[in-house]
Amino acid sequence: MADEDLIVPVAQRQVCELDLNSLKPPLDLRQVFGNPHPVSLEIGIGKGLFLMRSGLAKPQENFLGIEYARKYLNRARERIEKRPIRNVRVVHAEAMSFMQDWLIPDSLKAIHLYFPDPWPKKRHHKRRIFNQVFLEACYRLLVTQGDLLIATDHADYWAWMCDVLAKQTLFVPSDLLPEPPEDTDGLTNYEIKYQREGRPIFRTGYRKP
Ligand SMILES: C[S@@+](CC[C@H](N)C(=O)[O-])C[C@H]1O[C@@H](n2cnc3c(N)ncnc32)[C@H](O)[C@@H]1O
Repeated sequence: MADEDLIVPVAQRQVCELDLNSLKPPLDLRQVFGNPHPVSLEIGIGKGLFLMRSGLAKPQENFLGIEYARKYLNRARERIEKRPIRNVRVVHAEAMSFMQDWLIPDSLKAIHLYFPDPWPKKRHHKRRIFNQVFLEACYRLLVTQGDLLIATDHADYWAWMCDVLAKQTLFVPSDLLPEPPEDTDGLTNYEIKYQREGRPIFRTGYRKP
């Protein structure tokens, strides 16, 4: 049986969602996880497959996920809490505000942005999370040599990202690309779905020098 299939009895499950209403910013990540292990952040976790697999595959690391859609956050919570995972926390929050208000500089080993909403209509492009302000927020939070890992299936959003990346001077391209945490079938639920449909996947990695 794979680790992924281990199910914790209901009475022994631990809540992995941080209740921001009962906390004060900024978060003390050591206190949150109960250890000083490196922390990676995933933005827009959807149903939480990447976080779940990362938590299981890398017990000596911590993983924090942000999701603003309650429906998906609940799916992710269930997926994580029913497995023997102690190193994953999720928050119900808007990503940019959470990053700016709740996290301290130089606190993250990596930031993962996988299949962000593409907002395809031109008049909605301003809603795209990936822009210079987002990069500045990531730069502030990552440790030196920290990684920013990105994937999308959306060719127009990919071109937009490449344009933003070409104009910025904070990050340098890295050899490390987004990878599933183990030898599994894809990074996230969206990647698995799009790969099955035969869509091209665009991915890149940048590093804080
Ligand atoms: C297209 S889905 C991808 C989900 C997951 N990353 C995957 O690849 O399967 C984008 C997710 O990001 C969430 N999201 C989009 N913008 C967000 C924001 N500003 N803050 C928090 N979550 C956000 C959406 O609710 C949605 O669950």
